[in-house]
Amino acid sequence: MKDYGLSVWGNSNFIIDNGKVCINSDFKPALIDMVNEIRSDGIRGPLLLRFPHLIKKQIVEIYSNFERAKKEFDYKGEFNAVYPLKVNQYPGFVRNLVHIGKPYNYGLEAGSKAELLLAMAYNNFGSPITVNGFKDKELINIGFIAAEMGHNITLTIEGLNELKAIIQTAKERFSPKPNIGLRIRLHSSGTGVWAKSGGINAKFGLTSTELLEAINMLKSAKLLDKFTMIHFHIGSQISEIHPLKKALTEAGNIYAELRKLGAKNLKAINLGGGLAVEYSQVQQNVTRNYTLREYANDVVFLLKTIADQKNVTEPDIFIESGRFVAASHAVLVAPVLELFSQEYTEGKLNLKKENPPLVTELYDLYTSIKPSNALEYLHDAISHMESVLTLFDLGYVDLHDRSNAEILVHLIMKKAISILGVKESSNELQRIQTDVQERYLVNFSLFQSLPDFWGLGQHFPVMPLERLDERPTRSASIWDITCDSDGEISFDSDTNPLFLHDVDVEKENYFLGFFLVGAYQEVLGMSHNLFTHPTEATIILKDNGGFKIKNLLESQSVIDILDDMDYDVYELRDTLNSRIEESNLVDEKQKKQILGELYLFLNDNGYLKTIG
Ligand SMILES: Cc1ncc(COP(=O)(O)O)c(C=O)c1O
Repeated sequence: MKDYGLSVWGNSNFIIDNGKVCINSDFKPALIDMVNEIRSDGIRGPLLLRFPHLIKKQIVEIYSNFERAKKEFDYKGEFNAVYPLKVNQYPGFVRNLVHIGKPYNYGLEAGSKAELLLAMAYNNFGSPITVNGFKDKELINIGFIAAEMGHNITLTIEGLNELKAIIQTAKERFSPKPNIGLRIRLHSSGTGVWAKSGGINAKFGLTSTELLEAINMLKSAKLLDKFTMIHFHIGSQISEIHPLKKALTEAGNIYAELRKLGAKNLKAINLGGGLAVEYSQVQQNVTRNYTLREYANDVVFLLKTIADQKNVTEPDIFIESGRFVAASHAVLVAPVLELFSQEYTEGKLNLKKENPPLVTELYDLYTSIKPSNALEYLHDAISHMESVLTLFDLGYVDLHDRSNAEILVHLIMKKAISILGVKESSNELQRIQTDVQERYLVNFSLFQSLPDFWGLGQHFPVMPLERLDERPTRSASIWDITCDSDGEISFDSDTNPLFLHDVDVEKENYFLGFFLVGAYQEVLGMSHNLFTHPTEATIILKDNGGFKIKNLLESQSVIDILDDMDYDVYELRDTLNSRIEESNLVDEKQKKQILGELYLFLNDNGYLKTIG
């Protein structure tokens, strides 16, 4: 993993230049320079960097691929896309997305009242809004208000009760009315951890029988002309193209059948989301087996073929890709605070004038290890260690000798591994790498910033931002700063062979970048241990090669998060105050100082400060 798999997951967004991770643009600005500039104002802790140019890249790729495919297959239907707000509702992302999407008529998808109200306020006026998910009468009312405001809105119903509520609301409200979409329950489903959204037992959508009933209900309510769209979503992160093709064929035929049943204004098929992102850092673990080009070609070609066969108008195509649009735009950067086996350094060796022969022998091995003898010396060191431990149990060597032996064996292992490298074939070396893995304590919360790793084991690419021209020699596990043993990304020679550099954190900074965290992670993030959303900044690339840091938003303060949890923060402050006032352990001057310090802590965020 010399380039940390950048060529596998990086999508040419970043390059390594001069040993640093840089933006892949003409002037190659380095991420570390951005981080240092932000930190020069005294900001510490994890940082979330947003790159609007990467949002634009994804939007342009989607539209250009579909426009190209439409041309190639002479497709008559339109192509439309909406961004599903659930993927990331943070204003630092949404405002950029809406602005960038304007020339494309890019719309928004909402799945709740809050998201719909957000869409009604921020959507580019006239761009489509689609509404999915369970709806009550109130949500339906909000949808009608959106139509009355002039929004181009489609309410997609998930069940017949929702349709009943829409029919009732239509009688009560004014014109214009929203368009109606029907979510269809397909037999086809995706693959992988997010596949539950599709298939006949899926949580959402109408069966064929219910579809027929829905058409009859719409007919008798004289609302059939408002039925414009069918919708399906076979799951997020569709790793293989085949299930999508099956779903499209099924949906295309349902579209044709419904048009024959009199749904003359039905003109669109909405494929939902699911376009996958490649998260793997190792070629052999790659999950996505298609490109956007193939995806667009298959969608357009299949829908055209079905429309031709069934002699119906070629449908407009809607997609609701979220992950594909949002994931790459955000990078979490977190400082390493500590290396847990830092005690195993040469500096900690404390050899006596006269050492036991085994310790002397270990020292000789350490100082003379080289490529031709590395494996042999490694074996010798391991067996010497066993002997030293036996001698310690029998009282022949003391704690001092044992400590020296442990340090030397550790140093020999590290040296041997860096000489021998990662050899896929050597189980022994892989086991030793796991044994001597270093634990890097990193100033972030995995629960807050990578919740899908915690909940689903989803891997996110990790790499240091600097020193990429130096070979990393430490097999590494990452520990976050929560008091939870789940807050760990473990080294695994097959699935997560992460190697990092040796760092003396007292003398130097070492930052890790966690990539592709822009989709789902921010909003699913949990405040475990009361760690909050990290400090964020938007990075604008300038034409002259520099970059501009915009919208710097510091991580929420302790008092704000307690307020969010409905603590009475005035009461909390007063209680702290009176407890200090009543204390007879300190004098008046000290009380004032303590109070001042506490206020500062309450108004700052809870991430660690001293080192990282
Ligand atoms: C209806 C619907 N549309 C779109 C999406 C977005 O999916 P993705 O982020 O995989 O593109 C989802 C996500 O679950 C969804 O449920």
